[in-house]
Amino acid sequence: MENLLTQINNLKDEINNFSSNDENIAEVFRIKFIGSNGSVKSLMAEMKNVAPENKREMGKELNDLKLLAENKWEELKKTTDNRHPTSGSTIDLSLPGNSLPIGSRHPISIVRNKIVSIFQRLGFAVAEGPEIEDDWHNFTALNLPENHPARDMQDTFYVSQDPAWMLRTHTSSVQVREMEKGKLPIRIICPGRVYRNETISARAHCFFHQVEGLYIADDVSFADLKQTLYFFVKEMFGDDFKVRFRPSYFPFTEPSAEMDISCLICGGKGCNVCKHTGWVEILGCGMVHPNVLENCGIDSKKYSGFAFGMGIERITMLKYQIKDLRIFSENDVRFLKQFESAV
Ligand code: PHE
Repeated sequence: MENLLTQINNLKDEINNFSSNDENIAEVFRIKFIGSNGSVKSLMAEMKNVAPENKREMGKELNDLKLLAENKWEELKKTTDNRHPTSGSTIDLSLPGNSLPIGSRHPISIVRNKIVSIFQRLGFAVAEGPEIEDDWHNFTALNLPENHPARDMQDTFYVSQDPAWMLRTHTSSVQVREMEKGKLPIRIICPGRVYRNETISARAHCFFHQVEGLYIADDVSFADLKQTLYFFVKEMFGDDFKVRFRPSYFPFTEPSAEMDISCLICGGKGCNVCKHTGWVEILGCGMVHPNVLENCGIDSKKYSGFAFGMGIERITMLKYQIKDLRIFSENDVRFLKQFESAV
């Protein structure tokens, strides 16, 4: 009895410490311990020599041993299975994997997200609309009736099968769609891609990205417009520059203005980027024209509002001192990689 108990305990130790270099580790274990000629079975056979009064205790010991061996076997089977998930597979999952290169956000997306988050903090919500527009939403509702000379300010791509349709030239069309819903007040920004039939150069492309904004409520004034845009440029570029509003013309706003900031590249001294004026235009803005409000079913006696629109490319070029906007759409990894750590 003493002897059998010692053998059982030795075997337990052996099972617990079992290791093998063999690929089929579970099978090696099974044959050695659990198989019909295995050590557990041969100890079981010793039961017949155990004195009747000890049978109960020894039976329990042997049973524990058997369970221990079976559990260990199950565990080893898992190890083996993990090495060979499907029989006959030639994939070796123990080899190190091929790492996938991680991309980075495009600078236009980085700046768009930043612009959106600044205006979201002021309570503006994001609105989106279609890139293929009809004449009403892109032009007519915005106080640009057919044959209006100001349509020439935005060279347009028309759909050749049906020129009633076009690629939107600005995201002001989204503002029209929002006003037509008739829910006031409105406080939205409209990020998106726009298209113009322009000669591609360092400063212009046939497509680019905009964020336009619109605020309409009971008593909106030009002071609100200025304060909102001051806040925006300060958050976007910091404190180290000057801002000015210049009177301008847009058919959909009256009065209209353009906002300039002192050139961030030369510090206002004059360089190629600011065309030696020391100032760079960053956006157009103004008070929404009463005709536009009425076209969209809003009572212009009761409500007023301001609108603004900016090109994301222009803001990005200023922020990161990029001199040629064509690089944004060339997919040159050497350029894009430089924005890996930017958020
Ligand atoms: N829609 C104008 C453009 O694309 C920008 C703008 C929007 C100007 C709103 C004034 C007010 O050029």
